[in-house]
Amino acid sequence: MAIALEIQERYPSLPATSPIGQELDWAWLAGHSSEWGVHPKASPRGLTMMDVATGSYGDVPDHPVHRAMAARGADIDPDTPDMGYILNSKSDVWSDNVVELYEEAVARQWSATRDIPWSELRELPSDLEHAMCQLCTTLSEIEMIASDLPAKWMWRMNHDFLEAKMFLCTQIMDEARHSEVFRKRALANGGGLLKSRCGPETLLRTILEAKTYTQATALLHLLGEGFILDLFRQGEAIAPTDVEKKIFRMTMQDEARHVAYGTLHIRYAIEHDPDVAEEIHEALDHGEAAMVALGGSPDMSTALALLLAGGADKVDEVGFPLQRQLAANQFTSYLARCERAGVGRLERTKLPLELLGVDVEALRTKVAR
Ligand SMILES: [Fe+2]
Ligand SMILES: [Fe+2]
Repeated sequence: MAIALEIQERYPSLPATSPIGQELDWAWLAGHSSEWGVHPKASPRGLTMMDVATGSYGDVPDHPVHRAMAARGADIDPDTPDMGYILNSKSDVWSDNVVELYEEAVARQWSATRDIPWSELRELPSDLEHAMCQLCTTLSEIEMIASDLPAKWMWRMNHDFLEAKMFLCTQIMDEARHSEVFRKRALANGGGLLKSRCGPETLLRTILEAKTYTQATALLHLLGEGFILDLFRQGEAIAPTDVEKKIFRMTMQDEARHVAYGTLHIRYAIEHDPDVAEEIHEALDHGEAAMVALGGSPDMSTALALLLAGGADKVDEVGFPLQRQLAANQFTSYLARCERAGVGRLERTKLPLELLGVDVEALRTKVAR
């Protein structure tokens, strides 16, 4: 292969063959059709993915031509192999906040080893320690679904949607850390892991077996993680000590990102393909029933009631009313989130809203505003 004239003239010392006689291809030294000479400006916090999304590098195609792992914006050979992606429309995976969320996730990584003040743990009354250990047992179990689910779908996503895949990588790491921190808390204070029963597993299977990614993300991000986010928001009331308060604060920040991605992904998907709304509704019809089963599962609800009561003495008088209030908050904010995502559930849901303590009229007024 001869060196192109343009390259030869510019770099006359370049050899045409390697020391062992192989022909060399220097075509990348010139003649690229990708943009050259871009100068992204770093923001005060450093060079972000938003900063480098400049010129054509910031264009995310609605329907990518390629099915390869090639970097978006590179000069791509037409015969690059098909990697078997099935999520090849931007609306399958995208959300308008995903690039910012990726940067935020990277900036806010924390360590369950270093950043929790484990040495401050003190012996708790046996009922509180048991309740905390039971809650941590269930949380450690269900956190990992939010790693497994993105991992199941990511390798099927077109590589041009790189930023969405990168964000899901951060979610996978976040959830590994959540499983880690709740496992560590269960073991760290003289207690241990307690009961695992079939209630949580039903919801986890429903999420994992969703037929499409958008159905899966509705079940995981809108429904499942939304409920967990509201649970962590109540961390101050649930936590017996500052150690658990810190755990809930840190995990809450992470969950807020996951829910923010899912909510805007669903909105993006519906805006670009209104037919997808019915598919999401069907998934949520099943998911809501599984969520009610999880909320009513004996171990989770009693452990939470005892923690909220501050001990066994006031479970009936204080714990269960607070736990019912927490559930009402969770369902209310889930329904509001669905509205924001463009899949209003108020007229469709089979949830017994009044029984769950949801103020339907207040929610309707809020939504109508
Ligand atoms: Fe999590
Ligand atoms: Fe999460």
